[in-house]
Amino acid sequence: MQTAPITRLLPDENATLQLGADWSKSIKPPLVVYLQGNLGAGKTTFVRGLLRGMGYDGAVKSPTYNIVETYPLPNAVSLNHFDLYRFTTPEEWEDAGLDDMFTANSISLIEWPQQGGTFVPSADLTITLSNEGTGRQCTIFAHTEQGQKSLEIWLN
Ligand SMILES: Nc1ncnc2c1ncn2[C@@H]1O[C@H](COP(=O)(O)OP(=O)(O)OP(=O)(O)O)[C@@H](O)[C@H]1O
Ligand SMILES: [Mg+2]
Repeated sequence: MQTAPITRLLPDENATLQLGADWSKSIKPPLVVYLQGNLGAGKTTFVRGLLRGMGYDGAVKSPTYNIVETYPLPNAVSLNHFDLYRFTTPEEWEDAGLDDMFTANSISLIEWPQQGGTFVPSADLTITLSNEGTGRQCTIFAHTEQGQKSLEIWLN
């Protein structure tokens, strides 16, 4: 399934942070989210907003070099932020044993998921950021019922 796209105009960085923070009030595991968009589109900024909204005050850095950053959250929930940009082959997904990180208590946000090919678990939601003047346009699709429910609470 794929729902009709929902779009939001994000005129500046704060709008991207706020969109993530808004979702933090209702987001629940298990959830797999693909973050699409060019280099510098604002994908990591969105994750930072989500974590800030969840009360996480520490640094939220791009996982480009480490592949994944894990943030432990209350109630045994983990937020795993992946960035597969530097993969040279999809098999690196298997070599790194990343499947084990997808559990009933995990929220997974994946930048550059296409770099992992078919190894990457399928998404409940896809969030795409694209340039729009000096700001960004955000387009969101749900692919599962779980994803659709999450969208309804977040964006209504
Ligand atoms: N809505 C927005 N309008 C203008 N600038 C924005 C917006 N959202 C984020 N930015 C800016 O875009 C820049 C790049 O953001 P970010 O690092 O989050 O991109 P990214 O998509 O994760 O890139 P990469 O693919 O390289 O990891 C940052 O300087 C950030 O402040
Ligand atoms: Mg990034």
